[in-house]
Amino acid sequence: MQPVTNHNGKAHDLHQSQPPKLKFNPFLPEFHSDPYPIYDRLRTEDPVHLSSLGIWMISRYVDVIQALRDPHLSSEQSHISRYSRQQGTLSPVAALSSKCLFFRDPPDHTRLRRLVSKAFNPRVIEEMRPRIVEFVNELIDGIGGAGEIDIIADFSKPLPVRTISELLGIPEADREQLKHWSHWLGQIFDPMKSSNLSEQVNQAVLEFRDYLIDLIAKRRQYPQNDLISALIQARDEQDQLTEDELLVTCMLLFASGEETTVNLIGNGMLSLLRHPDQLAKLQEHPSLIPSAVEELLRYESPLQICGRTAIANFEIGGKTIRKGVPVFLLVGSANRDPAQFPDADRLDLARPDNRHLAFGDGIHYCLGSGLARIQGQIAIHALIQRLPSLQLSTDTPQWRENIFLRGLQTLPVTFSQRG
Ligand code: HEM
Repeated sequence: MQPVTNHNGKAHDLHQSQPPKLKFNPFLPEFHSDPYPIYDRLRTEDPVHLSSLGIWMISRYVDVIQALRDPHLSSEQSHISRYSRQQGTLSPVAALSSKCLFFRDPPDHTRLRRLVSKAFNPRVIEEMRPRIVEFVNELIDGIGGAGEIDIIADFSKPLPVRTISELLGIPEADREQLKHWSHWLGQIFDPMKSSNLSEQVNQAVLEFRDYLIDLIAKRRQYPQNDLISALIQARDEQDQLTEDELLVTCMLLFASGEETTVNLIGNGMLSLLRHPDQLAKLQEHPSLIPSAVEELLRYESPLQICGRTAIANFEIGGKTIRKGVPVFLLVGSANRDPAQFPDADRLDLARPDNRHLAFGDGIHYCLGSGLARIQGQIAIHALIQRLPSLQLSTDTPQWRENIFLRGLQTLPVTFSQRG
């Protein structure tokens, strides 16, 4: 008997026993270490899947992009946002998530996004480029002449905090303290952890808020050439950001821009080190770096899931999703969909027409995508050119347990020379 193939061209031999019933649970350890086989099964067997968690999982590219643009799906009522509010109506994290544009729907989202974009615009982001080159070179200079380093702790983690601090105009002397707050703040994107963790996150949010109230007052009095001053001055006719919105926007830039960027660099370096032919090609042709970073974003997307809730019944992929039910849009799966990306599991740094969804789509499309791309390009280029002999020192790097963000706990590597 001929083996039958699924839509990915992979064979199912009918003599073999049937594959076990599809169960999707993003909390399981095997999902963190390698989500791609389960994504493959979801796309093939049940692309709009009601999981045992009671959450709809949407896994094909065409459906994910449609859902990202669909006004029937709300970010304001999303699972994460509702969960945060359940921690207590007055909890600092609840207050933060209810006011930031990430968790707002139109018309509030439209208004906030317009005001924030006036200050956080492509010119301001491009002006950061020379500073990011300096930060990256300083970090590599700080690494010894040869030996072992952890790319995450020694390189990827310090970079985005430094970049966002510089952009906002956080004084140099305060930046050490800020690293601590920023670390906890990033956890608002994984609020399904223990309540103990929520306490630490809430504490960090309170301390950071007090710090920012003080700094914003200073910038109101003596504006500087920085993003905090620009956000204070941002106006849309008579409208401007309130004090609370200013605070929340500053925190959101840290919360959304730190770990995602750490993951872009960490996941990107792991993918390159696991594909020496592609790494060599990039070292030989540095002009490939913009296209390489797009492919690395597609191949191991730093943010795997966008959370929404249906605010009306709606149809997708031939199924009806009922009002009030949570929906996970699996961008990490959409980015490996062979119906959109030929040979989707292959890393191809020169891939043409790479319209990945790593930065989302629709009204919530990542506001920091330009900044993330600049940092990713400069960081990865410098690492592979200045540390050309990098080698992985483990075959089984450990992934973090966050279900939304895909990133490594550590990435130990060795190198024998430095440029
Ligand atoms: C590789 C790094 C990054 C990735 C993969 C990423 C990914 C994303 C994605 C997928 C969304 C949409 C979420 C949704 O629809 O639910 C988003 C939104 C957002 N991102 Fe990023 N991001 C990155 C870096 C950054 C940086 C560096 C910043 C700013 C410093 C930033 C700021 C934002 C903001 C403010 C939003 C909310 C936009 C809105 O709701 O209108 N991101 N990001």
